[in-house]
Amino acid sequence: MDIAQEPQEPPLPSSAPTSSVSATDAPLAPAAPWWKHESYTLHNDDILLDGHSLRDLAKTHGTPLYVYSKATIIRQLRRMQAALRESAQEHKIYYAMKSNRHPGILAAVRSLGEVGVDTCSPREVRWALAQGFAPSELSFNAGMLSDRDLRQLVDMGVHCTLDTQSALRRYGAIAPKGTRVGLRFNPGIHASYGDNPRLSYGQAKFGFEAEDAEQALAAATNAGLIVDSVHMHLGWGLPQSSQTQVSQAFARLASVAQKMPDLETINVGGGLGGRYIYSDHPLLLETWAAMIRQHLAPLGRKLICEPGTFVVAPSGILILETNTIERRRGRCWLGVDAGFAVNLNPALYGIPLTAVALNQPLAPATEAYTIAGNINEAGDIWSPEQLLPPLQEGDLIGFLPAGGYGSSMSNDHCLRGQPTEIALDPIS
Ligand SMILES: Cc1ncc(COP(=O)(O)O)c(C=O)c1O
Repeated sequence: MDIAQEPQEPPLPSSAPTSSVSATDAPLAPAAPWWKHESYTLHNDDILLDGHSLRDLAKTHGTPLYVYSKATIIRQLRRMQAALRESAQEHKIYYAMKSNRHPGILAAVRSLGEVGVDTCSPREVRWALAQGFAPSELSFNAGMLSDRDLRQLVDMGVHCTLDTQSALRRYGAIAPKGTRVGLRFNPGIHASYGDNPRLSYGQAKFGFEAEDAEQALAAATNAGLIVDSVHMHLGWGLPQSSQTQVSQAFARLASVAQKMPDLETINVGGGLGGRYIYSDHPLLLETWAAMIRQHLAPLGRKLICEPGTFVVAPSGILILETNTIERRRGRCWLGVDAGFAVNLNPALYGIPLTAVALNQPLAPATEAYTIAGNINEAGDIWSPEQLLPPLQEGDLIGFLPAGGYGSSMSNDHCLRGQPTEIALDPIS
């Protein structure tokens, strides 16, 4: 078990609350709630993750507590590798560590031997190197880079994907002649979880226009760099309904790839997600892989991807303690002992998490609660309406899926402190 302070598709019927289901629609308790995957075992009064009692972990370590399943991370990476094997001749996964940089998680990624790490700041590169990855196992992808950033990247010898003429010019001035780089392109489509523009990377701050591919290539060449890769990252939490847009973006990526004479790899970024609430329909791994096969595999180059959410989100649960249950202004408020400082997904992006009652995961969800955090901000609401079994002050709840972009984006607002994190090895 690693503790650190540092920094599925087949749908099942469910009693899990969703923010769009009213209390009166509450279904009866099913045999298995939708969020249960291979690593979860449910008892009437506890949830086990890879054999560990979450109730006992919360008692030992206190709350707020993130618990991660290393086995889930390995399973998700293997699923992705299997799908890519069907689609592209050669491929490599670089886990996007911005989604979760916990040492135990990076150790699980590293244990597979053939999975690299995608980084997006010099400190992330240093952190990955400190966890035992070699520079050749890292990719780097970020925008608006300073000379200070670029100097460190040159010194650390990591392959960089750049997306402005300015960065190419300044990087080329300090990198050895003939250094290989990738070029990042605007996917030009809108696709994201809930069609949220803040989660869509098309027409956003990143990337060259596909129409400007020749100029970008010329800028790299003039700077003494060799373009060996093209890249696109489409958006976060791509839904199955975005198939057409994803297909268009991959076709656009194929068209820019064909303009690069020294091309070795094609990088499709991240974007595959998973279910956050019962009613979600994420883009299926198989659909994504089929689109790679259709548009990109025919080019005969190595396929690269940088998944974060798909790999790590289902591995994690965030455990909080309820401290207040009280009716006012027509709602039943449920207060918990952490707020958006430990997980920004609901407050910043409107991404819903699903709450489960840790001590009664199979009980019927009959009560509608508004779950509020302990940060002194009106926007610190975990969920405007969650259906849960009747709870008492002091009960534990878990939010899931909480493995991605939770702790890695946490902060110390209101000096509430950072959450504890544990990465579990399975109990066999
Ligand atoms: C360039 C890049 N690659 C990969 C990722 C990981 O994305 P995801 O968590 O959606 O898989 C991100 C996330 O923002 C990104 O910006």
